[in-house]
Amino acid sequence: MVKVLVDVDCGVDDASAIMMALADPEVQLLGITCVNGNTSVENVCRNTLRVLKACRRPEIPVFRGASRPILGNVLMAEAFHGKDGLGDVPDPDAPGLELIQKEGAVEAMIRIANEHAGEVSLVATAPLTNLALAVRLDPTFPKKLKGLYIMGGTTEARGNTTMCAEFNFAADPEAAYIVLNDFPCPTYIASWEFTCMNILSWDFYDQWLDQDSEKARFMKQIFQYSRDVSQRQLGEAGFAFCDAFAMAAAIDKSFVTECEEVPVTVELAGTYTRGMMVIDRMSYLKKEHKAFILQKVDMEKFKTLFMKALE
Ligand code: BDR
Ligand code: CA
Repeated sequence: MVKVLVDVDCGVDDASAIMMALADPEVQLLGITCVNGNTSVENVCRNTLRVLKACRRPEIPVFRGASRPILGNVLMAEAFHGKDGLGDVPDPDAPGLELIQKEGAVEAMIRIANEHAGEVSLVATAPLTNLALAVRLDPTFPKKLKGLYIMGGTTEARGNTTMCAEFNFAADPEAAYIVLNDFPCPTYIASWEFTCMNILSWDFYDQWLDQDSEKARFMKQIFQYSRDVSQRQLGEAGFAFCDAFAMAAAIDKSFVTECEEVPVTVELAGTYTRGMMVIDRMSYLKKEHKAFILQKVDMEKFKTLFMKALE
């Protein structure tokens, strides 16, 4: 059994990552923590409850986390995910926020890691604010994790939010810095460039969404907005469900076939480069801890996991 905790800013690709975990009988999803990111933390909580409803898994606990980054202004990705963060498809029967746990996300992360010390894989598909707060509250927290799987960062300074920064790092650079420097556990990173190298075709998405299931119908609705932006405005040849790569790496050991093992940190001060992931290939920082940056993966395995998520 793979024990997973996921930190999201749900988001269509966060939704796909959650659905992937829930569809795998070998995965025990211990909880979902929410943070401000693609949209406000209230919307993120609501969206997460909607995903769980579509998957008929209302028993998974959802926790509310940070509503702002550690420093600086709130950055959201509504232009890509819709105003509500989930494609602006109204749902009059959406579960209410009273279903959110009373315990806060950061406290819940620490408690769950203590209860399952050495067994939990933390999948982070959002700005890393909750994780940074957790390590500041309990410096032993990262040592209790089996592994950390992050979607975020750039490897070649090819940003999707600023010139050089990927959204999850750009939205809270200080948090990304803290996590990349103070989490001594095995850390896997699915960078923006990596996800761009592994886009799937629109034909594949048609096949994926045309499955006869409640989950597929739900995904088809919420994905339409981002699909339109990608196809019409950006003219993309396909789509990268970024967050699902981090989840696939956490739940299927054989999915990742090649990584670069290297120390990483984050630029905090640059005029154009704030939030950019910096790779220390020549060990200037004399850091002992190295992250595993995903290079090659088994895309046939990914497609299988992805299809199963909506079955
Ligand atoms: C990341 O930012 C968000 O918009 C997505 O959900 C993903 O986590 C991609 O840069
Ligand atoms: Ca996300």
